[in-house]
Amino acid sequence: MKPKHHVFVCMNRRPEGHPRGSCQSVGAEETFNAFFGELEKRGMFEEVFVTGTFCMGPCDKGPTVVVYPEGVWYGQVKPGDVTEIFDKHLVGGELVERLKIM
Ligand code: FES
Repeated sequence: MKPKHHVFVCMNRRPEGHPRGSCQSVGAEETFNAFFGELEKRGMFEEVFVTGTFCMGPCDKGPTVVVYPEGVWYGQVKPGDVTEIFDKHLVGGELVERLKIM
């Protein structure tokens, strides 16, 4: 089964005080849970896959989220942004420009 969209959420954790910081230290777990909650609410398990990852690079812009097949990178994604990403991007096919970092 191939999903229409695959959402990768960085769940990387680094020790407290690490110079690069990490997505976990700025709320990645809550963001990941919000994606799953929305997925459950909408019952879109066949259309959208959500996967937690290790570091994807732009740690200073975390929590980092990448959506394929578009290859769009979103930064500082908070739980409150997830409904908009579903509505606009994953359902509507439009990018959420205000969160785009690449
Ligand atoms: S720790 Fe998430 S992008 Fe590096």
